[in-house]
Formats: sequence, structure tokens, C-alpha cells
Amino acid sequence: MRHLLSIADLSPQELSQLVDRTIDFKEGKVGEKALREKCIALIFQKPSTRTRVSFEVAINELGGHPISLGWSELQLGRGETIADTARVLSKYVHAVIMRLYKHTELLEFAKHSSVPVINALTDLEHPCQVIADLATLKQHFGKLEGLRLTWVGDGNNVCNSLCLACALLGLELVLSIPEGYDPPLLDKAREMGGKVEVRREPSEAVLDCDVIYTDVFVSMGQETQAEQRMRVFYPKYQVNRQLLEKTKTNSVVLHCQPWRIGQEITADVAYSERCLAFQQAENRLHSAKSVLEFCLLR
Ligand code: CP
Repeated sequence: MRHLLSIADLSPQELSQLVDRTIDFKEGKVGEKALREKCIALIFQKPSTRTRVSFEVAINELGGHPISLGWSELQLGRGETIADTARVLSKYVHAVIMRLYKHTELLEFAKHSSVPVINALTDLEHPCQVIADLATLKQHFGKLEGLRLTWVGDGNNVCNSLCLACALLGLELVLSIPEGYDPPLLDKAREMGGKVEVRREPSEAVLDCDVIYTDVFVSMGQETQAEQRMRVFYPKYQVNRQLLEKTKTNSVVLHCQPWRIGQEITADVAYSERCLAFQQAENRLHSAKSVLEFCLLR
């Protein structure tokens, strides 16, 4: 049994295999009903479009049965402990996919679960997103080796997972993030051998990059900090045509969506051919299958 709670749970070979398997699923090279007669619970404490729907469809297409549960529908919402919920659900289902605010609660659930637990986003990480993103880049460029990525904006959960993934695969990563907003897992990524450079000025950070990655300035759960965050990030850390023109001519833009058009990214970039956001969203379906297979069928 394998959980997928963090990108750091994976070896470089396993991460590469997950990326390649995502591409195999997308190209229709895998047809078997690998999850036949398996029930998988999805517990979402926060809203989701891509993650929840792609996992539900992936489970169905692999022959399994998804059971979607809102936090407040469960006794969890009335105070039943995470540990007891994990012990009970382990008796019914073959895996649990969870989107929670606190990463510590995900770890607590996994500790008491006897079935695989998959991180569908916490305040600390979004590993499934980053697997789909790497598959998107590998499909676009035909390789991952040698790519230089620049993250522009907030050092959030996606940024944390990206730092770890780049460290595992030896990709160059530049962070253009204001002082005080660096990703909490930056040091861990460096300890893992990650080549992460911090260049706070976006126009300098994107020089020679193949990929600009950005995300919202205010993540779910940070709504009370919205005004102050906007003062810090906007407009300096916005990905717009002017910033894109400073990169290589064949560079691309990633965004995990949902986006706030006009804040972290402008419409002319978001809806241009240079932006792969809808390919990333599409690849969430295929990466969901590769993650399910990895965690359940080893
Ligand atoms: N990128 C992502 O996780 O999207 P959702 O919040 O819609 O699942």
C-alpha cells in the first residue's frame, strides 16, 4: 500500500514513471479496468472542480466506484475524530482521496488508515497537480531534462510541490516571490539537492526561462488577507505580455486554475497559445489514473 501525501514520498524514478504513465493514459495506451470492484471515497473540505471531477471520472473509467463526501455530511463535521474516521472508512473503501485545509490533518488520517490516502490539495502541497503539470511539459517539449522553470507570485502549496518535483528530477527552478512569501518547503527541496534560485524581481527571474508558472495571489482559506496580499503582489508579480516577452520565444505559461484574470495573469496571456492551462486541466484526468494505479495496484 502506498499513500501519496507529498511529492517527497516519491523517488525520482517513481515520479518519472507517474509522469510517463499519465502520458500513456492520455494516449490511450492503457485500457484495462484496473479498479474493478473497488470503492474509493473522496472527502473534500474545500471547493474543487478539476480535482474532484477528474478523480471521479478516472475512477469510473478504471471500473471503480467513487463515493464523494462533503466534510459536513460526515460525522467529522460534528467532531468525530480524524483517526476514528480513518479507521472506519478503511473497513469500507479501498482508498481515500482528501482535500483538506490542514496538511497535519491529512497526515493524521493517513497514520490511522489501512488503505491508501491521496492528497487532493492541502495548505502545504498539491502533488497530483504537479504530476499533471510535468506530463503537460513533457508532452509539449518532448522532454523535461534541461528545462528552466520560473515561478512568479505566491510561494503556495503548488509551488511547494513544484520545488520538490524539480529537486527530484533535477530541473532548474527560479522563484520570483516577494520577501516573506517563500514556499515553506524551499529548504527541504534544497536538502533534496534541488537547484532553486531566488530572484525577487520578475523581469530578471524570467530571463532565459522555458516555463513561467503562476497561481492566484489569494488561495482558499486566505480570504481575510486578500487586501494586504493584493498590495504585495499586484501589479509587480502579474504575468502579462510584457513579462512573457522577456522569456525565450518558445516559452510557455502554466497556471493550475482557477485563475483571477487581471490579477496574477492577464487575459491576453491566459487565453493565448503560449498558455497550457487547459492542457494541464485535461491532464488532471490522466494523472488521476496514474496516481490511483500507483497507490492501489502495486
Ligand atoms: N487546480 C485545481 O486543483 O483545481 P480545483 O480546485 O478546481 O480542483
